[in-house]
Amino acid sequence: MKITLENQPVGPFPAMIAGAVLNAKPTYTTVGAGGCACLEPVLCVSLKDTHYITGGIAQTGYFSVNIPSAALVKEMDFCGMVSGKDVDKSVIFKSFFDPAGNAPMIEECPLNFLCKVCDSKQIRGFTMFFGEIIAAFVNDDCMTQGKPDPIKIDPIIMMGFNYCDLKNIIGKPFSEGKNIRA
Ligand SMILES: Cc1cc2nc3c(=O)[nH]c(=O)nc-3n(C[C@H](O)[C@H](O)[C@H](O)COP(=O)(O)O)c2cc1C
Repeated sequence: MKITLENQPVGPFPAMIAGAVLNAKPTYTTVGAGGCACLEPVLCVSLKDTHYITGGIAQTGYFSVNIPSAALVKEMDFCGMVSGKDVDKSVIFKSFFDPAGNAPMIEECPLNFLCKVCDSKQIRGFTMFFGEIIAAFVNDDCMTQGKPDPIKIDPIIMMGFNYCDLKNIIGKPFSEGKNIRA
């Protein structure tokens, strides 16, 4: 069945919260348009040019990508409903910084990436910032055998105007397809 997208890509997309400093304070914005950019450690976030956070990233050259767990769905949604132009979003979370203080990260989020802008691309009123990951942090209680555990991290997936959580691990990359003969 062919479907009408009504101006919204259907997903799935992981819900992320981008962080940056603007006017000497952390600010946080919900992002669905972004993720992994290539095989090198580079993430991207696509942000409307008129958003408050966009000016902060352009000024400092740094942003964070914070992965909220399902328990943070309300806070994550709120960061996508109000603008830092009107609301001080620095008070929603506890922020922590890398030693150089380049971009704020969210203590409550189980997974955080600090990114240094290495490229950007204008696309229909949005700027897609590409950021080299210069530090990554995972909450201790979200690790299993020394690795980030997806079920413990419990990220939020957006699809078809819904927020969903991860139910189960269903396989391993480059393994599940091995027995298919084409
Ligand atoms: C689930 C969700 C996903 C969003 N994804 C994006 C996105 O990828 N890019 C974007 O520019 N805005 C996105 N938005 C909208 C911004 O988060 C929203 O307009 C926000 O209030 C802008 O905040 P700011 O002006 O403080 O930067 C999203 C909002 C929600 C609720």
